[in-house]
Amino acid sequence: MWEYTDKVKEYFLKPKNIGEIDNADGVGDVGSIVCGDALKLSLKIDKDTDRIEDAKFQTFGCASAIASSSALTELIKGKTIDEALHVSNQDIAEFLGGLPKEKMHCSVLGREALEAAIADYRGIPKAEEEEGTLVCKCFDVSEEKIRKVAIENHLTTVDDITDYTKAGGGCGECREKIEAILNDIWSIKAPEKPVTPKKLTNLQKIALIQEIIEKEIRPGLQADGGDIDLIDIDGNKVIIAFRGMCTGCLMAGVTLEGIQSKLRELVSDAIVLEVQ
Ligand code: FES
Repeated sequence: MWEYTDKVKEYFLKPKNIGEIDNADGVGDVGSIVCGDALKLSLKIDKDTDRIEDAKFQTFGCASAIASSSALTELIKGKTIDEALHVSNQDIAEFLGGLPKEKMHCSVLGREALEAAIADYRGIPKAEEEEGTLVCKCFDVSEEKIRKVAIENHLTTVDDITDYTKAGGGCGECREKIEAILNDIWSIKAPEKPVTPKKLTNLQKIALIQEIIEKEIRPGLQADGGDIDLIDIDGNKVIIAFRGMCTGCLMAGVTLEGIQSKLRELVSDAIVLEVQ
């Protein structure tokens, strides 16, 4: 039995904004009944101000799916579409006072429906699923979705991904693939050729640090929407700044430690990394 907060119970038992808006300006239809959760979100939007005047939902799913969808409509009504796009699945869960972690996929479905409805309003065609990107056949979950949800929610284990997307929660065949995707997201790739640390002049040390950051560290971070800038090198103190998705990322501490170990391994044990 799941432990639900009073607010989840309230929004499940007396959901707000159920239904469909006639002549909606944007419709987001996500999930599928075959996979156990489906959500249709319709929006009425003031075209002059881009403000969401009304939001309604229809859902097929459990208590958390109904509560999450209803919470989403309450959160976005009155916001402009740009403001609404800042409503994350974590915001939906927080609005409800939390969701059981095994039910976080309901909040993710809400966020997906919101993105789809706004894309529909903006006339952005639904992206075609590229062949080969489907990772979980049981729940129809693509690699792109796993990467996005993992990065946005800082998920590091296959069980986390199952909680947030359902992927891996059926036959289990896709779990290895999910593990590989997570490793790819969160690990900093090892250098192809190990460089043997030697006694370096100051200039050699600076050049080596720059090269390692450019070739070994930056590509991995950029692949996940982040980046790093080398700000200064003062003796063994290396000062960097995170950019993009790395800024404010909850995993920044882990990334920082990974970069410091890499520089200690390849340049000098005495390297101390600092973030500006
Ligand atoms: S293919 Fe993912 S659980 Fe079956």
